[in-house]
Amino acid sequence: MLYHDILLFAHFIGLAMGIGVGITNMVIARMIGAAATPDAASALRSLPPILSRISMAGLVVLVISGLLLLFYWGFAITDFWFWLKILGVAGMIGVAYLMYQAQEKIRAGDQTAAAQMRQLGPAMGGLGLLVTLLSVFSFH
Ligand code: HEM
Repeated sequence: MLYHDILLFAHFIGLAMGIGVGITNMVIARMIGAAATPDAASALRSLPPILSRISMAGLVVLVISGLLLLFYWGFAITDFWFWLKILGVAGMIGVAYLMYQAQEKIRAGDQTAAAQMRQLGPAMGGLGLLVTLLSVFSFH
């Protein structure tokens, strides 16, 4: 029971890391648009790549704790909603990879990747919400 509780706790912390960073990045994007000086905007622009590392770590925590939870249940939870959830998780991992690639391009000075990043952020947020909803359908 304790093992299960600790894993579920880790699963929720991973979720909180992802959602927390997602909302923060949305606020920062608005603040960049409203920044009074180019210097203030560029200081704000340095934050999302740093914060993204936290959300990526959250995704890793989610996947590892999720797999261990599944192992705990002896792989018994394999209904329709669960497989739909796993499809959503695969989508999240794909978007995470695209975000990583875009981040590398921005670091190398390619600013066209910034526009791609602005589309990937909401896509990740939407998928995260969908996966959370599918998780509740699957386990209740
Ligand atoms: C390979 C990836 C994943 C696997 C194998 C997995 C597996 C599981 C399992 C087995 C549970 C049941 C826990 C229990 O009650 O004992 C669970 C719960 C949950 N998972 Fe995941 N998970 C994964 C990724 C994710 C992701 C990416 C999210 C969110 C973005 C997520 C959100 C949740 C939520 C909210 C619950 C609680 C549902 C409830 O109790 O109603 N999981 N997961």
